[in-house]
Amino acid sequence: MCGIIGYIGGKKTTDVLLEGLYALEYRGYDSAGVAICDNKDIEIIKSVGRVSLLEEKINKESKIKSNYGIAHTRWATNGEANLTNAHPHKIGKVTLVHNGIIENSDLLKEKLIKEGYKFNSDTDSEVVAALLDKYLKDNDVLKAINLLIKDLKGSYALGIMIDNDNKLYALRKDSPLLLGIGEKENFLASDITAIIKHTNKYILLEPKEIAVLEEDKYEIFKDGNKIEKEVLISDSKGIDNSKNGYSHHMMKEIMEEPIVLKRLIDRFSDEKERKNLDLSNYKEIDIVACGSAMYAGLVGQNLFEEYAGIKTTVYPASEYRYKKKIYNQKTLVILVSQSGETADTIAAMREAIELNVDTLAIVNNPDSTIAREAGKIILTNAGVEIAVATTKAYILQVCVFAMMAFTTGKNKGLIKEDFSLFNEVPNKLKLVLEKQDEYKELAKKIYKKESCFFIGRGIDYALCMEGSLKLKEVSYLHSEAYQAGELKHGTISLVEEGMPVICIISDKELKDKSISNLKETEARGSLGIIVTTEDLDDFDNYLKIVVPSSSKYTDSMLIVPALQLLSYYVALNRGCDIDKPRNLAKSVTVE
Ligand code: G6P
Repeated sequence: MCGIIGYIGGKKTTDVLLEGLYALEYRGYDSAGVAICDNKDIEIIKSVGRVSLLEEKINKESKIKSNYGIAHTRWATNGEANLTNAHPHKIGKVTLVHNGIIENSDLLKEKLIKEGYKFNSDTDSEVVAALLDKYLKDNDVLKAINLLIKDLKGSYALGIMIDNDNKLYALRKDSPLLLGIGEKENFLASDITAIIKHTNKYILLEPKEIAVLEEDKYEIFKDGNKIEKEVLISDSKGIDNSKNGYSHHMMKEIMEEPIVLKRLIDRFSDEKERKNLDLSNYKEIDIVACGSAMYAGLVGQNLFEEYAGIKTTVYPASEYRYKKKIYNQKTLVILVSQSGETADTIAAMREAIELNVDTLAIVNNPDSTIAREAGKIILTNAGVEIAVATTKAYILQVCVFAMMAFTTGKNKGLIKEDFSLFNEVPNKLKLVLEKQDEYKELAKKIYKKESCFFIGRGIDYALCMEGSLKLKEVSYLHSEAYQAGELKHGTISLVEEGMPVICIISDKELKDKSISNLKETEARGSLGIIVTTEDLDDFDNYLKIVVPSSSKYTDSMLIVPALQLLSYYVALNRGCDIDKPRNLAKSVTVE
């Protein structure tokens, strides 16, 4: 989603800003822009599409030598993705970039128009620029920004330059923003990865704090007073943009799954470490997340209820934050997030913390808001994911849930097997990933279809949700996931001649039931496809994907990677932009 970088210092400003924008690209965006200043003039260059186009434009059009500037990648929210709506925006003396959504911008805009302001874009961000410009007429910069803060409703991270002022200003509420501290140079960024090449020292801005950056100093103010803040050190390695010989990041990240999975399992093979996975103190669990992280939670729910004896409910964070919460003394709220910056998941977490309920986050990014604020955290350590569609991070989330359910069930005396059964999963996963030709072949049979279904029961339904999401997000092939037994209550009317219906079967108890449901669709012309484990495979006359048998706790970690590869090849056949699917963002920092 939108990204911000700002720089003030001795290096070539456009180089630093472009590097930062490239590092932020993975978050997803549809236009980009920079504003640079040479202590006199401000030059704004923007482009729709990729940062590389912006770079070409800067090389052709930029005329000034600058020592400070701000830059932005925009993921359209208010107003379509065009050049006018791209950031930075300049009104009067104010040039700014903005992440987030200003909820009262229509009202503010109306008032400003009456006062004579004219707007070019459809964005809420331009309204912020106008409002600040208005306050600057009668106030110094800090006072004007404080007045601005009082007026704005919604979420924002803002990087601001003011004509003839030679400083950068930064402030935020709900959208992340940090200050990077270098030697005779300072930065602002929505994500440490944008500046990690230059510095690992940073300060996190909190709401109502205003950072003022100059080349050789920075100051932070709150309510008009200067404050001191702790300088943090990041051990982020930054973004490894290489594809390691693969043609897409998605493929590279899928192929990394056995290694990162092994690392995670090895970590928890240590009994002391495993204590952190024991949830036997809790009677009820709410799992809260978005997208694939929520579907990992759905796998968790099945495992917790089946093997750890804990009643578990899964909620999309966007619903959870506004619903009435019913907690008891022994409720745990588990937040799941790859980025740790998903706005709805953060808000849900903060609500739970305020209501004094225990929180635990399963999170990949150690520098993120969720990693910092949750009561307890389990880091998945999948490494950075660049492809927008999550793959390896999802598998590790599922693995954490499986290990938690197993450890808790074991401590409660419900499970007899030994934890060492997890050790064989990475090698079995390698076997799944080796069968590329089979996925390619199956993809050929599917990619021209208009629509498809994934069906399954119990935990297999949870896997259907992720399989179906992966397929539609990367290949744009319409797909729905359904509880196998529920299909006939209306939705089966959509089944047509030749429509692929992919039936997932890893649960022995439910095998025959799911097959009956698949047959119901085949009787209506569907193309039945089965995804199952070796021990359950007696499906001779079907198109199928068969993964090695492992255990009822770990089968999910072998089935979903096969579905990820199937989606990849369907997307490849359909000529899609696999790593950056249309309309999607990696890090969803607005509600
Ligand atoms: C976006 C991404 C998904 C991801 C979801 C939740 O929609 O495209 O891949 O599952 O956000 O993100 P999180 O970072 O919280 O896991």
